Amino acid sequence: MIVSEPTPITEDGVSAAVDAALAAVASATDSASLKQVRAEHTGERSTLARLNGELRNVAPDQKASLGKLVGQARGRVNQAVAAREQELVVEEENARLAAETVDVTAVATAYRPGARHPLTLLQERVSDVFVGMGWEIAEGPEVESEWFNFDALNFDADHPARAMQDTFFVDPVDSHLVLRTHTSPVQIRALLERELPVYVLAPGRTYRTDELDATHTPVFSQFEGLAVDKGLTMAHLRGTLEHAARTLFGDEAQIRLRPSYFPFTEPSAELDLWHPTFSGGARWIEWGGCGMVHPNLLRAAGIDPEVYSGFAFGMGLERTLMFRSDVQDMRDMVEGDIRFSQQFGMVV
Ligand code: PHE
Repeated sequence: MIVSEPTPITEDGVSAAVDAALAAVASATDSASLKQVRAEHTGERSTLARLNGELRNVAPDQKASLGKLVGQARGRVNQAVAAREQELVVEEENARLAAETVDVTAVATAYRPGARHPLTLLQERVSDVFVGMGWEIAEGPEVESEWFNFDALNFDADHPARAMQDTFFVDPVDSHLVLRTHTSPVQIRALLERELPVYVLAPGRTYRTDELDATHTPVFSQFEGLAVDKGLTMAHLRGTLEHAARTLFGDEAQIRLRPSYFPFTEPSAELDLWHPTFSGGARWIEWGGCGMVHPNLLRAAGIDPEVYSGFAFGMGLERTLMFRSDVQDMRDMVEGDIRFSQQFGMVV
């Protein structure tokens, strides 16, 4: 066991211990380092505590003066520690407040709301018109089998109409898959899947090998209508189309049907739309194709054409948006510039 030699208490020794303690206190820059300084210079193992202990051994006549010397020294150091502690508490509080400062006058970051695409809005609007008449929404795949896109729709294997629609064929060729060139394959799917009577609207994307320009886009959209029931005639077709035209374009809208040809309808017609405020003035524009469902389609779906009849139509959604909202250039619809969509808001 090591017993330290008793140290004589001297004025110089006490003031050296005080100086060392005060210097250490002054150099403490935060509460944590001050805590260490306090332990080192005022704790049990500090020089001053040791000198205090020595008072036991001093001669009785010196006890009072040396006791005062050491007591005052310890008092000074304790006071210095307490004063520095106060300072540090204030400094640290100020630093924390400064770090947490919120500039209430700062201009808030403006987040511009996004926008839904007008084609999406219009597709929902058109769907609502037909759902409002009790129709259902039907869907089919965009990568469609050639059979649904052409054969089942009564296109002959080498019918010119097959080439008329410039088709994207999917590799390998013997997969017999195409990007659907129209929404009409959904007619077949609906007839095969659903119970009669059928009243469905099939909106969706379609593809043809057109170059992108002001009036063409290789990816476009159609909405297909199909009704099969007992006793349906061309008058029902006309009435349905007229209702859709007036609901979408206003009461002044008019439609007309011109004889035409599609392999899957007989008779077939081109559908034109007239409105007094089309840009370019009151005029007829081509809106889509339509007709009475060809008996071959009904038969292929196991439906007796002597009992049931149907009508169908297909319109371009982009053209509908162009004429309804006076969009001059189809490229605006595919480029995805948010400023284009924002003009329409959330309702078309
Ligand atoms: N599918 C035809 C087209 O894209 C339009 C159409 C649909 C015609 C339904 C008649 C009946 O040109």
